[in-house]
Amino acid sequence: YLNYCVPRTRKEIFETLVKGLQRLEYRGYDSAGIAVDGDKNTTTDGINNNNIVLIKKNGKVKALDEELYKKDCMDLEMELDTHFGMAHTRWATHGEPSALNSHPHRSDKNNEFVVIHNGIITNYKELKKYLNSKGYEFESETDTEVIPKLIKYVYDNREREDLSFSTLVERVIQQLEGAFALMFKSSHFPREAVATRRGSPLLIGVRSKYELSQYLYLCPNTNSCSTYHLIQTNGYESLFSYGKAVEYYFASDASAIIEHTNKVIYLEDDDIAAVVGGKLSLHRLNRLAGEVPVRAIQTLQMELQEIMKGNFEAFMQKEIFEQPESVFNTMRGRICFDTNKVILGGLKDHLKEIKRCRRLIMIGCGTSFHAAVATRQALEELTELPVMVELASDFLDRNTPVFRDDVCFYISQSGETADTLMALRYCKDRGALTVGVTNTVGSSISRDTDCGVHINAGPEIGVASTKAYTSQFVALIMFGLMMSEDRISLQTRRLEIINGLRILPELIKKVLTLDKNIKSIADELYEQRSLLVMGRGFNYATCLEGALKIKEIPYMHSEGILAGELKHGPLALIDKHMPVIMIIMRDACYTKCQNALQQVTARSGRPIILCCQDDPEVSKNAYKTIELPQTVDCLQGILSVIPLQLLSFHLAVLRGYDVDCPRSLAKSVTVE
Ligand code: F6R
Repeated sequence: YLNYCVPRTRKEIFETLVKGLQRLEYRGYDSAGIAVDGDKNTTTDGINNNNIVLIKKNGKVKALDEELYKKDCMDLEMELDTHFGMAHTRWATHGEPSALNSHPHRSDKNNEFVVIHNGIITNYKELKKYLNSKGYEFESETDTEVIPKLIKYVYDNREREDLSFSTLVERVIQQLEGAFALMFKSSHFPREAVATRRGSPLLIGVRSKYELSQYLYLCPNTNSCSTYHLIQTNGYESLFSYGKAVEYYFASDASAIIEHTNKVIYLEDDDIAAVVGGKLSLHRLNRLAGEVPVRAIQTLQMELQEIMKGNFEAFMQKEIFEQPESVFNTMRGRICFDTNKVILGGLKDHLKEIKRCRRLIMIGCGTSFHAAVATRQALEELTELPVMVELASDFLDRNTPVFRDDVCFYISQSGETADTLMALRYCKDRGALTVGVTNTVGSSISRDTDCGVHINAGPEIGVASTKAYTSQFVALIMFGLMMSEDRISLQTRRLEIINGLRILPELIKKVLTLDKNIKSIADELYEQRSLLVMGRGFNYATCLEGALKIKEIPYMHSEGILAGELKHGPLALIDKHMPVIMIIMRDACYTKCQNALQQVTARSGRPIILCCQDDPEVSKNAYKTIELPQTVDCLQGILSVIPLQLLSFHLAVLRGYDVDCPRSLAKSVTVE
């Protein structure tokens, strides 16, 4: 966060940084740290030298926040006309969670250069060895620490060259492999900020009372033929060229800054952004042939209340209850219920090409993968194409053959998941058409794919994905409907599904009224060690997704079992002690599911059954039932997953866990 000619007290600067971190905490929360300018002459207990103060703390952002006010060496009321401070919340990949391993990392004991990093540096061992050989000593176990050391090495060896801060950064990132979004601060360049990215997201929010133009153009830099400056070309004195009173907010995601500004610039890979004297300029390491030399200043539509918990106990709970609106927003403006037309604007120009393809490959991780499993059968039916569903990591491990006439979908809430992104690059290299299905405008997947669909579920903050799943589900079904518009034989089926979608938000509301009922089931189950979830056909994905939710939030062992596989092994687990949930809906698998039910009850199993309303046949064999409204078979999974989302939430609360901060998990998995 950089305030230029906008006086702020140090307390306000702390508050801005800490509030931003709290909004990002869902991405990682095992330690946090901050770097700010110290008071002149403050040199207490070795923490503050050369005027940059580093404060780092193990644990959540709250712990850091408390620590800040213990530093009585700093005058909180001191007004700073121009100041650049930065902060980071970490999710450990290299090195255990600890204050030492948390960011910012520093070049040396004098804090000459400090760096925060999101991503992973894959060649850090080689760099560390080299820097060690040059006498640089490391204090943490992280991959990140090579970066501040490396910039100091470049700085120390600059000979007589007068290098700018951004040129130093440019030289550093030429040596880095992996993925990164980086912020640099230096006591040699006070009140200057440099940021860059490759593979990890980074945006710049701009707040000013002056009007901003819509675009910034990259123009040749007179000093270097390989870099480009970003300037405004709207004909009048521009903010960026002249550096009037302005505040810049650099962040991995918009939720950290939305309460300050909705004007943002998304950086591209290898953009280097520098603020010097209040002027923002952008450089490119290499400008690619044919690249459009422009960066739009976007106006975000996100509202602050969308990223606040309101009256709910947790974001996860809020997001479960938002699903009537979030699925509606996924459909809004895309389905015409009068004409039965479905138009996904981001795909329509590629429809012909998609229709000619050899097969569809749906790729994702975790919940996003489950959305592919959930819709596979409907997509096969509506597109009349073979549909493969792939976990991104396994897809890459197998070096799966991909052809130019394949169409590959990348399903990802965050749009930043490393495995999914790598699978995207793998398929792009093989000439396949790539389609993104994401919830994050401006994310790497949405930008790197040839075309795509934004699911428009609104920001999902809870680490457990809930509303994104149901919106991904709806978006994929809409894609199937769009593909089948001219198939006469499919019109009755299309109509049935479109009618199902029309009333879906109302049916979701009805399912949500079962919350109390589900809480009472959680009261019974919360001390159990295991919970099996069984179903088949359209509801197999619900079992996988339900079991994932039960694992990740209440930390209970759970397995999603295909009911057709029961007699091939899992039946051995069933006895009167093993808690079992079965999903038995009135669809083509109804009779087969009843067979499975018989097999479970014959072994004294006591199944809790998710079934359709008024189904005495099923109810009489159930230990308990959760009765759901019936809808079209291929949409039923949207309704049947909600009780399992609620169950996971209640189990976690009863077991005393922090629902929004599950251990060992982060919202956006930007490492392999
Ligand atoms: C589960 C969950 C994860 C994510 C997975 C993919 O609740 O959140 O399994 O679904 O990490 O993340 P995205 O969808 O962002 O690619």
